[in-house]
Amino acid sequence: MSSEVLDRGLVLDAVRVCEAAAIAAWKLVGHGDEKAADQAAVDAMRNALNDLEIDGEIVIGEGERDEAPMLYIGEKVGSGKGPKIDIALDPLEGTTLTAKAMANALAVMAWAPKGTMLNAPDTYMDKIGCGPGYPAGVIDLDKTPAENVQSLAKAKGVAPSEITVCVLDRPRHAGIIDSLRSVGARVHLITDGDVAGVMNTADPATGIDLYVGQGGAPEGVLACAALKCVGGQFQGRLVFRNADERARAAKWGITDLDRKYDLHEMVRADAIFAATGVTDGALLDGVKYAGGFVHTHTLVMNSATQTVREVRMKRPV
Ligand code: FBP
Repeated sequence: MSSEVLDRGLVLDAVRVCEAAAIAAWKLVGHGDEKAADQAAVDAMRNALNDLEIDGEIVIGEGERDEAPMLYIGEKVGSGKGPKIDIALDPLEGTTLTAKAMANALAVMAWAPKGTMLNAPDTYMDKIGCGPGYPAGVIDLDKTPAENVQSLAKAKGVAPSEITVCVLDRPRHAGIIDSLRSVGARVHLITDGDVAGVMNTADPATGIDLYVGQGGAPEGVLACAALKCVGGQFQGRLVFRNADERARAAKWGITDLDRKYDLHEMVRADAIFAATGVTDGALLDGVKYAGGFVHTHTLVMNSATQTVREVRMKRPV
Protein backbone atom coordinates (compact mmCIF):
# COMPACT_ATOMS: atom_id res chain seq x y z
CA MET A 1 0.00 0.00 0.00
CA SER A 2 2.74 2.38 0.90
CA SER A 3 5.02 2.31 -2.08
CA GLU A 4 2.69 4.25 -4.35
CA VAL A 5 1.77 6.76 -1.63
CA LEU A 6 5.05 7.16 0.23
CA ASP A 7 7.53 7.79 -2.54
CA ARG A 8 11.22 7.93 -1.83
CA GLY A 9 11.32 11.72 -1.83
CA LEU A 10 9.38 11.64 1.42
CA VAL A 11 12.37 10.02 3.14
CA LEU A 12 14.50 13.12 2.65
CA ASP A 13 11.53 15.40 3.35
CA ALA A 14 11.11 13.69 6.72
CA VAL A 15 14.78 14.30 7.47
CA ARG A 16 14.49 18.00 6.66
CA VAL A 17 11.41 18.42 8.83
CA CYS A 18 13.07 16.82 11.88
CA GLU A 19 16.33 18.70 11.31
CA ALA A 20 14.46 22.02 11.33
CA ALA A 21 12.72 21.23 14.62
CA ALA A 22 15.91 19.95 16.30
CA ILE A 23 17.94 23.02 15.33
CA ALA A 24 15.22 25.33 16.64
CA ALA A 25 14.94 23.44 19.94
CA TRP A 26 18.71 23.24 20.37
CA LYS A 27 18.89 27.01 20.74
CA LEU A 28 17.04 26.57 24.05
CA VAL A 29 18.98 23.56 25.40
CA GLY A 30 19.85 24.13 29.06
CA HIS A 31 17.80 27.30 29.41
CA GLY A 32 15.32 25.75 31.82
CA ASP A 33 12.28 26.68 29.76
CA GLU A 34 10.41 23.60 28.49
CA LYS A 35 7.60 25.61 26.93
CA ALA A 36 9.86 27.92 24.92
CA ALA A 37 11.91 24.99 23.62
CA ASP A 38 8.78 23.11 22.63
CA GLN A 39 7.28 26.17 20.94
CA ALA A 40 10.46 26.78 18.93
CA ALA A 41 10.44 23.17 17.72
CA VAL A 42 6.71 23.29 16.90
CA ASP A 43 7.05 26.50 14.86
CA ALA A 44 10.02 25.16 12.91
CA MET A 45 8.44 21.78 12.23
CA ARG A 46 5.19 23.34 11.10
CA ASN A 47 6.96 25.73 8.72
CA ALA A 48 9.00 22.88 7.27
CA LEU A 49 5.88 20.76 6.77
CA ASN A 50 4.02 23.58 5.09
CA ASP A 51 6.84 23.93 2.53
CA LEU A 52 6.20 20.39 1.27
CA GLU A 53 4.09 19.15 -1.64
CA ILE A 54 1.94 16.90 0.54
CA ASP A 55 -1.69 16.63 1.52
CA GLY A 56 -0.92 15.89 5.15
CA GLU A 57 -3.11 15.59 8.22
CA ILE A 58 -1.79 15.51 11.78
CA VAL A 59 -3.09 12.41 13.58
CA ILE A 60 -0.63 12.51 16.49
CA GLY A 61 0.33 16.06 17.34
CA GLU A 62 0.52 18.70 20.01
CA GLY A 63 -2.98 18.01 21.34
CA GLU A 64 -6.55 18.65 20.39
CA ARG A 65 -7.59 21.77 18.52
CA ASP A 66 -8.90 23.62 21.55
CA GLU A 67 -5.65 23.18 23.48
CA ALA A 68 -2.97 23.38 20.77
CA PRO A 69 -2.86 26.34 18.39
CA MET A 70 -0.40 24.58 16.09
CA LEU A 71 0.10 21.03 14.87
CA TYR A 72 -3.15 20.06 16.55
CA ILE A 73 -4.81 16.76 15.73
CA GLY A 74 -6.73 17.20 12.50
CA GLU A 75 -4.64 20.14 11.25
CA LYS A 76 -3.85 20.01 7.54
CA VAL A 77 -0.27 20.68 6.55
CA GLY A 78 1.58 20.93 3.25
CA SER A 79 0.49 22.38 -0.07
CA GLY A 80 -2.54 20.07 -0.18
CA LYS A 81 -1.46 18.85 -3.62
CA GLY A 82 0.80 15.86 -3.01
CA PRO A 83 0.28 12.41 -1.50
CA LYS A 84 -2.44 12.02 1.14
CA ILE A 85 -0.65 11.10 4.34
CA ASP A 86 -1.19 10.76 8.08
CA ILE A 87 1.46 12.45 10.17
CA ALA A 88 2.47 11.53 13.72
CA LEU A 89 4.92 13.95 15.25
CA ASP A 90 6.55 15.17 18.39
CA PRO A 91 8.61 18.25 17.49
CA LEU A 92 10.39 17.98 20.83
CA GLU A 93 10.32 14.58 22.54
CA GLY A 94 11.93 15.27 25.90
CA THR A 95 11.08 18.87 26.78
CA THR A 96 12.56 18.48 30.27
CA LEU A 97 15.65 16.77 28.87
CA THR A 98 16.14 19.79 26.61
CA ALA A 99 15.51 22.36 29.32
CA LYS A 100 18.06 20.62 31.56
CA ALA A 101 20.54 19.79 28.74
CA MET A 102 20.20 16.06 29.43
CA ALA A 103 20.70 13.21 26.95
CA ASN A 104 18.25 11.74 24.43
CA ALA A 105 16.00 14.67 23.44
CA LEU A 106 14.72 14.18 19.88
CA ALA A 107 12.64 15.78 17.15
CA VAL A 108 10.48 12.92 15.82
CA MET A 109 8.04 12.27 13.02
CA ALA A 110 6.40 9.38 11.21
CA TRP A 111 4.19 9.33 8.16
CA ALA A 112 1.98 6.70 6.63
CA PRO A 113 -0.78 6.62 4.00
CA LYS A 114 -3.98 8.41 5.07
CA GLY A 115 -6.16 6.49 7.51
CA THR A 116 -3.55 3.93 8.55
CA MET A 117 -2.23 5.17 11.91
CA LEU A 118 -3.96 4.81 15.28
CA ASN A 119 -5.47 8.15 16.32
CA ALA A 120 -4.21 7.74 19.86
CA PRO A 121 -5.70 10.29 22.26
CA ASP A 122 -3.40 12.20 24.60
CA THR A 123 -3.61 9.59 27.36
CA TYR A 124 -1.13 7.07 28.73
CA MET A 125 -0.31 3.74 27.15
CA ASP A 126 1.11 0.52 28.58
CA LYS A 127 3.91 -0.44 26.23
CA ILE A 128 6.26 -3.28 25.52
CA GLY A 129 8.76 -3.40 22.67
CA CYS A 130 11.81 -5.26 21.46
CA GLY A 131 14.08 -5.14 18.45
CA PRO A 132 14.19 -7.40 15.37
CA GLY A 133 15.36 -10.99 15.07
CA TYR A 134 12.97 -12.70 17.50
CA PRO A 135 10.08 -15.09 16.74
CA ALA A 136 6.64 -13.45 16.53
CA GLY A 137 4.95 -13.31 19.94
CA VAL A 138 8.17 -13.45 21.96
CA ILE A 139 6.83 -10.60 24.10
CA ASP A 140 3.27 -10.06 25.26
CA LEU A 141 1.76 -7.18 27.22
CA ASP A 142 -0.50 -9.65 29.03
CA LYS A 143 2.44 -11.55 30.48
CA THR A 144 4.32 -10.33 33.54
CA PRO A 145 7.56 -8.38 33.01
CA ALA A 146 9.43 -11.37 34.50
CA GLU A 147 7.80 -13.77 32.01
CA ASN A 148 8.68 -11.48 29.13
CA VAL A 149 12.32 -11.37 30.22
CA GLN A 150 12.41 -15.17 30.45
CA SER A 151 10.83 -15.53 27.02
CA LEU A 152 13.22 -13.02 25.41
CA ALA A 153 16.23 -14.58 27.14
CA LYS A 154 15.25 -18.02 25.84
CA ALA A 155 14.86 -16.68 22.29
CA LYS A 156 18.20 -14.87 22.54
CA GLY A 157 19.91 -17.93 24.00
CA VAL A 158 21.10 -16.16 27.14
CA ALA A 159 20.27 -16.17 30.84
CA PRO A 160 17.61 -13.68 32.06
CA SER A 161 20.41 -11.90 33.94
CA GLU A 162 21.87 -10.95 30.55
CA ILE A 163 18.72 -9.11 29.49
CA THR A 164 18.66 -5.33 29.95
CA VAL A 165 15.27 -3.63 30.16
CA CYS A 166 14.67 0.09 29.74
CA VAL A 167 11.99 1.57 32.03
CA LEU A 168 10.89 5.15 32.75
CA ASP A 169 11.88 6.00 36.33
CA ARG A 170 8.45 6.60 37.82
CA PRO A 171 6.84 5.44 41.12
CA ARG A 172 4.07 3.80 39.06
CA HIS A 173 6.69 1.37 37.70
CA ALA A 174 7.79 -0.03 41.09
CA GLY A 175 5.91 -3.30 40.51
CA ILE A 176 7.35 -3.70 37.00
CA ILE A 177 10.89 -3.08 38.27
CA ASP A 178 10.45 -5.61 41.11
CA SER A 179 9.15 -8.20 38.63
CA LEU A 180 12.09 -7.60 36.24
CA ARG A 181 14.66 -7.84 39.03
CA SER A 182 13.02 -10.97 40.45
CA VAL A 183 14.42 -12.91 37.48
CA GLY A 184 17.76 -11.11 37.56
CA ALA A 185 17.24 -8.74 34.63
CA ARG A 186 19.24 -5.52 34.51
CA VAL A 187 16.96 -2.45 34.68
CA HIS A 188 18.10 0.65 32.80
CA LEU A 189 16.12 3.59 34.18
CA ILE A 190 15.53 6.76 32.17
CA THR A 191 14.11 10.03 33.46
CA ASP A 192 12.21 10.89 30.26
CA GLY A 193 12.06 10.17 26.55
CA ASP A 194 10.53 6.77 25.99
CA VAL A 195 10.57 7.07 22.19
CA ALA A 196 14.36 6.92 22.41
CA GLY A 197 13.99 4.23 25.09
CA VAL A 198 12.00 2.01 22.72
CA MET A 199 14.21 2.82 19.73
CA ASN A 200 17.26 1.67 21.70
CA THR A 201 15.97 -1.92 21.59
CA ALA A 202 16.49 -1.89 17.81
CA ASP A 203 20.26 -1.40 18.04
CA PRO A 204 22.35 -4.04 19.87
CA ALA A 205 25.06 -1.40 20.39
CA THR A 206 22.85 0.32 23.00
CA GLY A 207 22.78 -2.85 25.14
CA ILE A 208 19.00 -2.48 25.63
CA ASP A 209 16.97 -5.60 24.81
CA LEU A 210 13.47 -4.71 25.96
CA TYR A 211 11.34 -1.67 26.77
CA VAL A 212 8.47 -1.99 29.29
CA GLY A 213 6.21 0.51 31.03
CA GLN A 214 3.59 3.22 30.84
CA GLY A 215 4.16 6.51 29.02
CA GLY A 216 2.41 8.84 26.61
CA ALA A 217 0.13 7.18 24.04
CA PRO A 218 1.25 9.53 21.21
CA GLU A 219 4.87 8.57 21.93
CA GLY A 220 3.75 4.95 21.79
CA VAL A 221 2.52 5.28 18.21
CA LEU A 222 5.76 7.01 17.19
CA ALA A 223 7.91 4.35 18.83
CA CYS A 224 5.76 1.65 17.23
CA ALA A 225 6.40 3.18 13.77
CA ALA A 226 10.14 3.11 14.48
CA LEU A 227 10.11 -0.57 15.44
CA LYS A 228 7.92 -1.43 12.46
CA CYS A 229 10.62 -0.03 10.17
CA VAL A 230 13.23 -2.47 11.51
CA GLY A 231 11.04 -5.54 12.00
CA GLY A 232 10.83 -5.22 15.79
CA GLN A 233 7.83 -6.08 17.96
CA PHE A 234 5.60 -3.70 19.93
CA GLN A 235 2.29 -3.84 21.79
CA GLY A 236 0.33 -1.09 23.49
CA ARG A 237 -2.86 -0.65 25.48
CA LEU A 238 -4.40 2.76 26.15
CA VAL A 239 -4.75 3.70 29.82
CA PHE A 240 -7.60 6.00 30.81
CA ARG A 241 -7.44 7.81 34.13
CA ASN A 242 -10.81 9.57 34.07
CA ALA A 243 -14.08 10.13 32.19
CA ASP A 244 -12.61 13.00 30.18
CA GLU A 245 -9.90 10.74 28.76
CA ARG A 246 -12.45 8.07 27.91
CA ALA A 247 -14.55 10.71 26.13
CA ARG A 248 -11.50 11.77 24.10
CA ALA A 249 -11.01 8.19 22.97
CA ALA A 250 -14.63 7.96 21.84
CA LYS A 251 -14.14 11.15 19.83
CA TRP A 252 -11.39 9.42 17.85
CA GLY A 253 -13.52 6.37 17.22
CA ILE A 254 -11.98 4.14 19.89
CA THR A 255 -14.78 2.04 21.35
CA ASP A 256 -12.96 -0.96 22.82
CA LEU A 257 -11.10 0.79 25.65
CA ASP A 258 -9.28 -2.34 26.84
CA ARG A 259 -7.96 -3.36 23.47
CA LYS A 260 -4.39 -4.54 23.17
CA TYR A 261 -2.92 -3.13 19.95
CA ASP A 262 -0.25 -5.02 18.11
CA LEU A 263 2.36 -3.15 16.07
CA HIS A 264 0.54 -3.73 12.77
CA GLU A 265 -2.77 -2.53 14.27
CA MET A 266 -1.23 0.74 15.44
CA VAL A 267 0.55 1.43 12.15
CA ARG A 268 -1.49 -0.45 9.57
CA ALA A 269 0.54 0.29 6.43
CA ASP A 270 4.15 0.96 5.64
CA ALA A 271 5.57 4.03 7.29
CA ILE A 272 8.56 6.35 7.19
CA PHE A 273 10.04 7.32 10.55
CA ALA A 274 12.65 10.01 11.23
CA ALA A 275 14.30 11.33 14.39
CA THR A 276 16.95 14.02 14.74
CA GLY A 277 19.01 14.33 17.92
CA VAL A 278 18.55 17.56 19.87
CA THR A 279 20.92 16.54 22.67
CA ASP A 280 23.43 13.66 22.47
CA GLY A 281 22.01 10.20 23.03
CA ALA A 282 22.77 6.50 22.64
CA LEU A 283 21.61 6.43 19.02
CA LEU A 284 21.93 10.01 17.84
CA ASP A 285 24.30 12.92 18.34
CA GLY A 286 22.72 16.20 19.28
CA VAL A 287 22.86 19.42 17.28
CA LYS A 288 26.32 21.06 17.22
CA TYR A 289 27.55 24.45 16.12
CA ALA A 290 31.22 24.54 15.10
CA GLY A 291 33.37 26.59 12.75
CA GLY A 292 30.46 28.56 11.35
CA PHE A 293 28.39 25.44 10.56
CA VAL A 294 25.43 23.73 12.19
CA HIS A 295 25.61 19.91 12.28
CA THR A 296 22.71 17.50 12.78
CA HIS A 297 22.38 13.73 13.02
CA THR A 298 19.18 12.00 11.86
CA LEU A 299 17.98 8.42 11.68
CA VAL A 300 15.43 7.81 8.93
CA MET A 301 13.80 4.47 8.25
CA ASN A 302 11.33 3.11 5.72
CA SER A 303 9.30 0.07 6.71
CA ALA A 304 8.51 -0.81 3.07
CA THR A 305 12.15 -1.66 2.44
CA GLN A 306 13.34 -1.90 6.08
CA THR A 307 16.02 0.59 5.08
CA VAL A 308 17.76 2.44 7.89
CA ARG A 309 19.79 5.53 7.02
CA GLU A 310 21.83 7.82 9.17
CA VAL A 311 22.00 11.32 7.73
CA ARG A 312 24.56 13.85 8.88
CA MET A 313 23.79 17.37 7.74
CA LYS A 314 26.17 20.31 7.80
CA ARG A 315 25.38 23.79 6.58
CA PRO A 316 26.70 27.30 7.15
CA VAL A 317 24.95 29.17 9.92
P1 FBP B 1 7.56 15.52 26.90
O1 FBP B 1 8.60 15.67 25.87
O2 FBP B 1 6.21 15.90 26.41
O3 FBP B 1 7.95 16.21 28.16
O4 FBP B 1 7.42 13.94 27.22
C1 FBP B 1 8.48 13.25 27.79
C2 FBP B 1 8.04 11.87 28.26
O5 FBP B 1 9.08 11.33 29.08
C3 FBP B 1 7.70 10.88 27.17
O6 FBP B 1 8.82 10.34 26.52
C4 FBP B 1 6.90 9.85 27.93
O7 FBP B 1 6.09 9.06 27.09
C5 FBP B 1 6.11 10.71 28.87
O8 FBP B 1 6.84 11.95 29.03
C6 FBP B 1 5.89 10.09 30.21
O9 FBP B 1 4.97 10.85 30.93
P2 FBP B 1 5.13 11.18 32.48
O10 FBP B 1 6.26 12.16 32.63
O11 FBP B 1 3.81 11.77 32.86
O12 FBP B 1 5.43 9.91 33.19
